[in-house]
Amino acid sequence: MATAAVGGSRGITVISSTPVQPLATLSNELQLDLRVKRDDLYPFPGGGNKARKMDFILRSPAAFGATALVTNGGVQSNHARVVALTAAAAGMHCHLVLHGDPTSLDRPRGNLLLMMLAGATIDIVPPEGISDAIAKAVARLEAQGERPFVVAGGGHVLAGASAYVEAAKEAGAQLGSWVPDWIVVPSGTGTTQAGLSIGSRLNKWDARVLGVSVARSASRGAAEIGSICTQLMAEHGASLERPEIIFRDEWTAGGYEKIDERTLSAIVRVTRAEGLPLDPTYTGKAFAGLLALCQSGEIAAGSRVLFWHTGGILNLTTSSCFDRPSVS
Ligand SMILES: Cc1ncc(COP(=O)(O)O)c(C=O)c1O
Repeated sequence: MATAAVGGSRGITVISSTPVQPLATLSNELQLDLRVKRDDLYPFPGGGNKARKMDFILRSPAAFGATALVTNGGVQSNHARVVALTAAAAGMHCHLVLHGDPTSLDRPRGNLLLMMLAGATIDIVPPEGISDAIAKAVARLEAQGERPFVVAGGGHVLAGASAYVEAAKEAGAQLGSWVPDWIVVPSGTGTTQAGLSIGSRLNKWDARVLGVSVARSASRGAAEIGSICTQLMAEHGASLERPEIIFRDEWTAGGYEKIDERTLSAIVRVTRAEGLPLDPTYTGKAFAGLLALCQSGEIAAGSRVLFWHTGGILNLTTSSCFDRPSVS
């Protein structure tokens, strides 16, 4: 347990550990040795990778002395929910610049509801207005005597990636001699994947880290992850062998928050087989990728596979993707 050095009136207690569990039914069905790292259970309301990242971001020197947090994201952003609740817990102000449907403020649900309950002030702007709205919020907070800290959207910053270097080490200590052949993780900004790739190397694992894109093209995503890996290697040991970057974009369903039948059927299959809910925006896509690579033989029978569950339960429960007649 550690207390983050943030500028709010109250400190933040960090308990950063999540279980690893075997997935016995799916292991049997898929002829794999499949386990899941439950970052959906990260100890924070709604859990998930954004909460794990935030604990590290707030401990970075750049955040020291801040009295207000400002960030951006979609109206159902897990990251924005984490920033808003973190600010409330630390007695800090929070301003969120969101994009999406402005009428969602009239019927807040899921992440947006938690942002509002936490007392964050909110602007909803079109994507091209985000930087301007952030700059205005910072100026306004400064004029009020606050010391605002701007948290990069999605926690896409080196400290966020470092959280996942440490998370891989945490998994290494939990798994002992069970060394994964594959780690499968949903990949958006790629920060989580980059951290896991470097953390795997530090564990001396030969694991191939498969990032399943939730939106980005393979070329853009891989370039971004490569650049974070370079920065992480400078910080954690430049002598490390550079990790292979596998970022696959076949299961995006056409873009962020778009959904296809493969994602829906992966969610139903995993929930029914294991009692483990996935979500349509992130983890459902990643598991659809895992299933496809098993079927094609790219993930060979008998492989040890660690599925990294990054959260997203609120994206599932606010989605209409299972409205009738889809659920069977
Ligand atoms: C539940 C969940 N999983 C995965 C991701 C992707 O993480 P990253 O941006 O680090 O690639 C996100 C990002 O929003 C998320 O909220």
